[in-house]
Amino acid sequence: MKSSNVVWHSATVTRARREEQNAHRGVILWFTGLSGAGKSTLAHAVEEELHQLGCHTFVLDGDNVRHGLCADLGFSADDRTENIRRVGEAAKLFIEAGVIVLTAFISPFRSDRTRVRSLVPHGDFLEIYCRCPIEVCEERDVKGLYKRARAGEVKEFTGISSPYEEPETPELTVDTDRLNLAQSVDAVVAMLQERGIIGAIAN
Ligand code: ADX
Repeated sequence: MKSSNVVWHSATVTRARREEQNAHRGVILWFTGLSGAGKSTLAHAVEEELHQLGCHTFVLDGDNVRHGLCADLGFSADDRTENIRRVGEAAKLFIEAGVIVLTAFISPFRSDRTRVRSLVPHGDFLEIYCRCPIEVCEERDVKGLYKRARAGEVKEFTGISSPYEEPETPELTVDTDRLNLAQSVDAVVAMLQERGIIGAIAN
């Protein structure tokens, strides 16, 4: 901590009051998985569904956040850890704002994800593993990065020259190579209903 002489200021408009007004809880939906596994696609499709149900939502997406908040970070292990730390702190602010925040980051290291989980109260961090065999991600190669990584042009590429540590006990696993997008969205929304996150508005 470099900041000293700073005192926490408490808001009178609290998280609980915001959640009451929103008629749903604030929560982090943490999508993790390989590049090309469908994290962003699923997060945005879930957001679309939740928005139509009247929920307050926001997506934090790796490729976008790395243009601004994390533009100074690369893909070394340390930089990825710092990336996820910042995103975790930002996501924590969103749940304080009573928002359902959906994050789409590879977040390859278990310890980084665990640290974010421990930042927020129990039950406020829901890990969603977008599981997809690397062969399928590589076959899709939407951004052409797998091809470039195989050619040695992109260093420390997740799944090829940098590790991905699978979640051990995610709240939900979505097999994106077997389910279509609508089925995947349904699985996430059903989990939110089962957990009472959006129970008050979505029937
Ligand atoms: S994370 O590992 O720090 O969580 P993040 O989700 O922010 O990664 O960014 C991943 C995106 O950056 C990928 O979808 C891909 O488009 C791009 N990218 C560029 N270089 C790499 C790399 N070496 N490894 C993984 N993704 C990379």
